[in-house]
Amino acid sequence: MLSRREFIAKGTGTVVTMAAAAGTGLLAGCGNNIESHPPTVNSFHDLAGPRSLRAHARRHGLVYGSAVVIPVVEKNTDFDSLLSEQCGILVPSNELKWVALRPSRDEFNFGPPDSLYDFTQRNHMLMRGHTLCWHESVPGWIRKIDNKDEIKQIFVDHITNVCKHYAGKLQSWDVVNEAIDPAAKLPGGLRKSFWYDNLGPDYIDLAFHAARAADPNVKLTYNDYGVEGDNDGDAEKRRLILEMVKGMKSRGVPIDAVGIQSHLNAGQKYGQGVADYIEAFHQLGLEVYLTELDVNDDATVSNDVAERDAIIAKTYTEFLGAALPNPAVKLVLTWDISDRFTWLNGIGSHRKKQPNRSQRPLPFDVDFKPKDCFYALRDSFDRHKRA
Ligand code: G3I
Repeated sequence: MLSRREFIAKGTGTVVTMAAAAGTGLLAGCGNNIESHPPTVNSFHDLAGPRSLRAHARRHGLVYGSAVVIPVVEKNTDFDSLLSEQCGILVPSNELKWVALRPSRDEFNFGPPDSLYDFTQRNHMLMRGHTLCWHESVPGWIRKIDNKDEIKQIFVDHITNVCKHYAGKLQSWDVVNEAIDPAAKLPGGLRKSFWYDNLGPDYIDLAFHAARAADPNVKLTYNDYGVEGDNDGDAEKRRLILEMVKGMKSRGVPIDAVGIQSHLNAGQKYGQGVADYIEAFHQLGLEVYLTELDVNDDATVSNDVAERDAIIAKTYTEFLGAALPNPAVKLVLTWDISDRFTWLNGIGSHRKKQPNRSQRPLPFDVDFKPKDCFYALRDSFDRHKRA
């Protein structure tokens, strides 16, 4: 089993100390001279090694990575190279959710996520798990059961089995995802969901205890969205999540980290709200992960790609400028790395206001060419000295 330090060293690409890395030139190119747009980038391979997001993140004690749709990794060697060159950590977008992992009560479909785990091991990367409990991923077969004690037993058994399967292998787990929904007007701001309806509000504590019992060292994370902006709605959600997490800590619930999904919108304001939110968790001794970063620019009126890319990059810079100075932030993952695979252009993307144009939310375009936000991410890693 790897120690925490070894885990981070692995996510940064190699099990060496920073001093040794400096001595071998591994950190070259991410020194004090910030290299923004290099003169020519003919291929994404030109941005590998010391020029990569992975290397620039490493220099500041961060691990950069991406979500991936596993079948794509299994088929596309170019994409595999992009991932292994740029990422220190991967998370499967879908394949560890209940619907994918539990086609029936008696089946666990570990094949795809296990193959991604093998890929991360071959490429000296970390892997995180997403997610053990999410209201949007509840299989039909469990919804048909009308005995609450039975549902509770299946819930605990699922978390136990899945966490044991990966015990000692993952950096972190999103144990519970998106449990807060102020619009539901339930006590504590909890979301009305299958889990809430059948197990009551205690399902969150139950999930964290079951995960810890099955894997003593993995970082147990609460992950949510809609907390990033400087606006009243996001401020209220931040308040509710902070209250929930403080309650968990006071009851001795084993929570190690809070995930900020970071699905941003171009043109919105990001700053003090998220900075204070991160600091509140820092004060509680928790780590903070930016788990699903991307920028939706549906609201941008201009169709000019260069203009749109500049606005998207500015949004990355503004948000990361608020988040990264805090040393509690340990991971930055974009939700996919190339626009070719983003959920914002996908079948499940119901939010599209501009149906005649594709979204460009990620560091690499559909041809794996770096975009302005690649440089915005990389420069942000370099710029923010963490306390
Ligand atoms: O795999 C099937 C495929 O066999 C089938 O042919 C195809 C046609 O319907 O669907 C495929 O599954 C889709 C899957 O993505 C893989 O592409 C599902 O319909 C679709 O619902 C699923 O959407 C995912 C969504 O979560 C719901 O699980 C997105 O890829 C994924 O990016 C998104 O991720 C969520 C995070 O988990 C939580 N935070 C928000 C984030 C974005 O919505």
